[in-house]
Amino acid sequence: MSKQPIGIFDSGVGGTSIWREIHALLPFENTIYLADSKNAPYGPKGKKQIITLCEKNVEFLLEENCKLIVVACNTATTNAIKHIRDNYNIPFIGIEPAIKPAALQTKTNAIGILATKGTLSSELFHKTTNLFGNGITIIEQEGEGIVQLIETGKLHSEEMKGLLNMYLKPMIKANIDHLVLGCTHYPYLMPILLEILPKHVKIIDSGEAVAKQTKAILEKHQLLNTSKVKAKHQFYTNGNPKVMTELLDSNYNVEYLEF
Ligand code: SIN
Repeated sequence: MSKQPIGIFDSGVGGTSIWREIHALLPFENTIYLADSKNAPYGPKGKKQIITLCEKNVEFLLEENCKLIVVACNTATTNAIKHIRDNYNIPFIGIEPAIKPAALQTKTNAIGILATKGTLSSELFHKTTNLFGNGITIIEQEGEGIVQLIETGKLHSEEMKGLLNMYLKPMIKANIDHLVLGCTHYPYLMPILLEILPKHVKIIDSGEAVAKQTKAILEKHQLLNTSKVKAKHQFYTNGNPKVMTELLDSNYNVEYLEF
């Protein structure tokens, strides 16, 4: 058993949607969350730059003695997970858009995917769509501007509603019955998505699957914290702490840190 924390990082505050799922499944695990909001969004950046940013985040969390790191960012996973797994000697969990369940369950043979440019253009994403997208129409939409609005505290703005209406219109027209959320910031859009999408469209994100995978890997490496002591959670950001505090419903203290 290990009381060492689980490290979680994202380009910003969105990965807290993953942190919530991990905390719900593994309530006694200590965690450290790192938001690289100063460099958000990662989506429009090139692969090389994303890898460099990920290395910086990983090294911070290793200094904090993390036993496992969750890359709670689709763009970082699809562009950098192979590199970091090859270069660091602890287990890493990545996030990929849940194309497979959507493709297996669709009845209209049309699914939508909302993700960043960095995710949609990655090799890993193409591999997944080639593998599961046979005979299915996949409407890909780049969510340009969404992450910036969330990072600047404009989650519930009219601007956000306007963007989402514009992005989802072609998908509704194509009769999708599943929408895959390919960015960890997007689960926070759920109330607006439910307003815009027809009732029969199922919205899928990867949070629960990632939490289950985290548990399975901790068990495999005998790293689970089996003590029943109240867990400690640290949240760090190099952006505005208020944005993350609000997303966490003011339940946790978020510390500003230069990194
Ligand atoms: C971004 O930084 O552009 C979004 C993060 C993600 O892809 O999950």
